Amino acid sequence: MARMIFLNGAFLPEADAKVSVMDRGFLFSDGVYEGVGILDGRVVDNDAHLERFERSMGEIRIPNPYSRDQWTALETELVRRNSVDEGFLYLQVTRGVAERDFVFPGQATPTVLMFTQVKAIVKSPAAESGIAVVTVPDQRWKRRDIKSVSLLAQVLAKQAAKEAGAQEAWMVEDGHVTEGGSSSAFIVTPSGNIVVRPLSNAILPGITRKALLRLSEEAGIPLEERRFTVAEAYEAAEAFLTSASNFVLPVVSIDGRPVGDGTPGPVTRQLQALYLEMARA
Ligand code: PDD
Repeated sequence: MARMIFLNGAFLPEADAKVSVMDRGFLFSDGVYEGVGILDGRVVDNDAHLERFERSMGEIRIPNPYSRDQWTALETELVRRNSVDEGFLYLQVTRGVAERDFVFPGQATPTVLMFTQVKAIVKSPAAESGIAVVTVPDQRWKRRDIKSVSLLAQVLAKQAAKEAGAQEAWMVEDGHVTEGGSSSAFIVTPSGNIVVRPLSNAILPGITRKALLRLSEEAGIPLEERRFTVAEAYEAAEAFLTSASNFVLPVVSIDGRPVGDGTPGPVTRQLQALYLEMARA
């Protein structure tokens, strides 16, 4: 059965879902997106994702075409039509189709796209054994708090990671890790404290990160919201990343150096379990 795509108000087979070459998303990356995990056929932490999506649209002044309830109903319907049990739901809004001109068009209807991807999250080899990351310079723009579809720096960073035999890039600015190419970066200090960079325009406010902060507080695991250096990450007892598409993934090597004993650590395992419990609830 063909994958069904939601495009501009209609559910269409993938082959029929077409966007104009004059779409400003295509010509200018003039759009924002959102990504939500799917577990047991349901979207995970969806309200928080829609809240960030609304904010992203507002920050670049694209009028939000749907209410929170309408978005939720459309998401649910798309997941149902594609019978996705576990995977990822992608949402994108661009400023729409108009003659090429940098300034906002006088009249344009936002282009709205949603699709699903089937993916093993909970029982993936990465979740079991952990992944390798490499550090790369953070070459992005200064409004990383907006979930912009302009992802060229992340494409290049993640490709460099792949070519180095790693599964994620940790981007570095002024000697400090900002975040992963498509994930939030965490370390656990030798004394057992979780360390994560505080929110600012330098990083995306990760929705999984936000849940993790709440869960670690509830579990009484000490947490420091501060920047950390690459040198500190090398010396960490554990490291992990979070994202809607992977939940919590152990990081077992950084730039070819094993983290701790080179296997997923106890704090990471505890957080994986706590997050899964929350996602299923
Ligand atoms: N990326 N930082 C960046 C730069 C990201 O692109 C993402 C998510 C995150 C994690 O945010 P969240 O927990 O809300 O997924 C952090 C998605 C998964 C993607 O682009 O595919």
